[in-house]
Amino acid sequence: MWDIEKGNQTSITEFILLGFGNDPELQPLLFVIFLMIYITTMTSNLLLVLLVVADHHLHTPMYIFLGNLSCLETCYSSIILPKMLTNLFRGDRSISFTGCIAQFSLFGSCICMETYLLAAMSYDRYLAICKPLLYASIMHAKACFQLVAAAWITSLLGNSFIIFLMVQLSFCGPNKIDHYFCDFRPIEKLSCSDTTLIELVAFLLTIIFTAIPLLLTLTSYVFIIATILKIPSTTGKQKAFSTCSSHLTVVCIFYGTIIIVYMLPDNSTLRHLNKVFSVFYTVLTPLVNPLIYSLRNKEVHKALRRVGCNLKLFCTKQTELLK
Ligand SMILES: *[C@@H]1O[C@H](CO)[C@@H](O)[C@H](O)[C@H]1NC(C)=O
Repeated sequence: MWDIEKGNQTSITEFILLGFGNDPELQPLLFVIFLMIYITTMTSNLLLVLLVVADHHLHTPMYIFLGNLSCLETCYSSIILPKMLTNLFRGDRSISFTGCIAQFSLFGSCICMETYLLAAMSYDRYLAICKPLLYASIMHAKACFQLVAAAWITSLLGNSFIIFLMVQLSFCGPNKIDHYFCDFRPIEKLSCSDTTLIELVAFLLTIIFTAIPLLLTLTSYVFIIATILKIPSTTGKQKAFSTCSSHLTVVCIFYGTIIIVYMLPDNSTLRHLNKVFSVFYTVLTPLVNPLIYSLRNKEVHKALRRVGCNLKLFCTKQTELLK
């Protein structure tokens, strides 16, 4: 009995990530594209973190959350992309069993963390727009810290349940995962143990970490939009809207693609489409978020000039005035 069990568990020590197909001409192209995406993602997010930390004008809740979001995004790009890049580069697509579980669990924690952080950010916008007089007394540094800490702790805790259940699954082959990273559904499908319990837990966690934050975010925006519509002047409307438009864009891209990926029926014709949409939320969200937040944001532009000037990289008379 012991031998059989042991045999089952050791029969698979690695998975094969099929990635984006076999076409030998496509692989170098994908390698170059994803490498550029990775470099840009890391640089822009780290730059944003640096700005938020270095410039005291950005020590407001909105930018503290944004700094944490950027930190998170450097993490989660680094969980997916380096492995994908080495696989594309070497043409070897294997990932060890432990590596696969580690990738899934880290990625899972990051996604949960992101949903809660986006919810906290929308609550911050709700207070700023709908309750401006109470804003300073509710959203102080301690509340900010508590929200961020709660997001980190709950997502790590929630994911440790799944990992605990996952390491107990046995895999007896096949070991091919038709995806470019170890996501929950493909791994769970390859298991030859009973997966009822883990599916139930995964479902509950999806509700806790996706449905609830999404609901909180939507509720905040319903109030925000109602308040904005009541502002009499057009410039007032635009001004209020401009403080939350970046965040709203990020929320729409993130949830839009997640909903598409997990709602699409899982059959072979749609699997390719599914992979493409997964690229959106795993690879492109971290890439575009810092851009969305910084391109049209005057505060970030000013901070960039101030920090650049302090580091003696570039200085103009205008920058001196900004201090
Ligand atoms: C993340 O949030 C914590 C808690 O509020 C804050 O102290 C820290 O500065 C934030 N990190 C960044 C990079 O903004």
